[in-house]
Amino acid sequence: MITRRLFLANASALFAAAGARAPLWALSARGISDSSVPSVMLLGVDYYPDQTPETLWEEDARMIAETGFTNVRVAEFAWSLMEPSEAKFDFAWLHRAVVTLQKHGIQVILGTPSAAPPPWLTAKYPDILMVNDQGMTVSPGGRRFTCPTNKVYRRLSLDIATEMARSFADTPGVIGWQIDNEFTLQRWGRCYCKFCRAGFQDWLRIKYGTLDEINSKWGTAFWSQVYTDFTQIPVPLPSNGDPNPGLALDYDRYQSYANASFLEEQLAILRKTCPKHFVTTNNVGAPLDTIDLHEMYKNLDFVCHDNYPGFAQMFIPGGSPDAVATMISLGHDSMRGVKDGKPFMIMEEQSGKAGQSFFSPPPRKGQIRLWTYQAIAHGAMGLNYFRWDTANFGAEEYWHGMLNHDRSKSPSFDEIQQTVKELKTLGQEMLQSSYVSNAALFFDLNSAWATVIQPGNTKLTFASQLTAWYASIASTHIGIDVIQPESDLSRYKAVFAPLPYVVSPQEAANIRKFVQTGGLFVGGFRLGVKDENSQIVRTPLPGLLRDVMGATVKDYMPIYTEKIGVNFSSLLAGPDADCSLWADILQPSSASVLATYTAGPYSGEPAITMNSFGHGKAVYLGADLDPASLARVFAALLESVTIKSSFDVPRGVEVCTRKSGPKEWTFLLNHTGATQAVTVPGPFKDLLTGATHTGKVGLDAYEVRVLQPA
Ligand code: GAL
Repeated sequence: MITRRLFLANASALFAAAGARAPLWALSARGISDSSVPSVMLLGVDYYPDQTPETLWEEDARMIAETGFTNVRVAEFAWSLMEPSEAKFDFAWLHRAVVTLQKHGIQVILGTPSAAPPPWLTAKYPDILMVNDQGMTVSPGGRRFTCPTNKVYRRLSLDIATEMARSFADTPGVIGWQIDNEFTLQRWGRCYCKFCRAGFQDWLRIKYGTLDEINSKWGTAFWSQVYTDFTQIPVPLPSNGDPNPGLALDYDRYQSYANASFLEEQLAILRKTCPKHFVTTNNVGAPLDTIDLHEMYKNLDFVCHDNYPGFAQMFIPGGSPDAVATMISLGHDSMRGVKDGKPFMIMEEQSGKAGQSFFSPPPRKGQIRLWTYQAIAHGAMGLNYFRWDTANFGAEEYWHGMLNHDRSKSPSFDEIQQTVKELKTLGQEMLQSSYVSNAALFFDLNSAWATVIQPGNTKLTFASQLTAWYASIASTHIGIDVIQPESDLSRYKAVFAPLPYVVSPQEAANIRKFVQTGGLFVGGFRLGVKDENSQIVRTPLPGLLRDVMGATVKDYMPIYTEKIGVNFSSLLAGPDADCSLWADILQPSSASVLATYTAGPYSGEPAITMNSFGHGKAVYLGADLDPASLARVFAALLESVTIKSSFDVPRGVEVCTRKSGPKEWTFLLNHTGATQAVTVPGPFKDLLTGATHTGKVGLDAYEVRVLQPA
């Protein structure tokens, strides 16, 4: 699985190039009505009364209020204090903390504590511990070391959530809940214990009904794996040979289901007991492949994620400000996509030097404000800074909050206070407005999972392709939604699908309809190789999309040491590109050729084709292009369907727009440490300074501007 650290390290190499629709509030049946979104602004801080002497709570509450914050999140890691021994609950201390905060007008989001069960629990029930992908039982002492299937862990997690819900349902000041903490924060991402194995077998019974169906869908005739009883089905632990790809893909789906259904149990009790409160959960702000977040957030009120550019600074090797900014934007855009564009909340926003066992570079003056505005620009409706104080003990002593270890104000304190004040002035309508996007990028979990199972080239990863494509589109500043392939595509003019290895009939039909009705679809190499069971299709590639693409794949080639180039023509005419990890060699039927390979066994043969299909166009990008060429190609394709930003933006600066009815807010974000200038189309009012700008708008290092057409 791809963890946050791996994702950052992995996606980094591809950044060299980086350079309107209706409001979505009325989406779900529950909608964003009454209880599901608080009417108060969510501009807060994460607070740890459980780690702070009670004598300081009053002072903390007063200062939190004076800083301008409206809420705190508390208690998400306080299980051992709330249930010191089995079934003996103690919420008195937490009630005192809530009362103190409420006295100062601070509202409270409560976290259920299941991410870190206490020592009495793991000592008594060691079976709840996760078994990792090497079959080793994970030790307690950290967090997220539990099995999502284990019934005892589920019961005990539900018990504490139930008791909390009962205890705080009518407590003044409590407004909402965060279930657990960062389900996607996993070192292994999967549990392989005996309970998960049994859970997987049950899940398969429901999914397939019969063993015949499983044997046929997985192709168990290979290596003598025909199952004659459900209990024979293993989990993909080391077995001196790779697992069956269909089984491994289903195991990813099962683990996702196990985590989502674990959350649903707590959600059901919170909905029942606390109908006036909103319920959400936070996750790592990145398109990770551990859990299907669409499944996980389906019944939650809104998406929350945690935003730590410091991690990107630490783990993107040699990461330029551009690379870090693009990675963070990808995190926001992918999380916004989880609930179809609905505004999201940042539950943890970096407030100082990030750190666990390492410190991140200290944020430069202006950067915390910049990162805050970046989240807002990409669709956040609220945000809590992590954290109020800085821990003097525990694994995160290095993680700087708004107060230093000696409780003096941190270097970013005043900057955060100013930012919160500004956001309040900009107002709730802006905070709840919709992000304006003009293109969509698929983040297809089936393809991501299947590529982890069988990368095809030792260096090929879904994360790096997704990131490279995102960075290239983002460099055009047109606004991107990161969506599932099954989403409604009718609102986009252009849709991009990186490494679309698995294509389901439903996805193929969606793409076909999109192109037929006038859209531009750009599909990457390995298009439609596999079906949903991870079997390779028995037709010429790209399988279900051959007619749409107007081309077939004559051959495909992983590239290790060869130097292969790509030569462009027609609307892509420009300098030659390098082709790195993969080449699909295309044979057009109705498509025209936009690029050919310049060397290797298929020199002169098509690398990129474009087909007219219905009212639209379908481009097959068979080559893994170098980042600069990918960005150039995408810009040319977008321009060919008249998608182009009307802002002239230098590298390292981002432009995003949000909209509510006729109102628009455009954010200029300078991620560099140098002065920059953006050329704007027409007169704009600067909402933060009151000035009016036309032509070039200057931005100091790390400066932000919020503009509205004048
Ligand atoms: C998040 C997590 C927090 C804290 C923070 C800083 O991943 O939710 O509990 O650990 O990172 O490391």
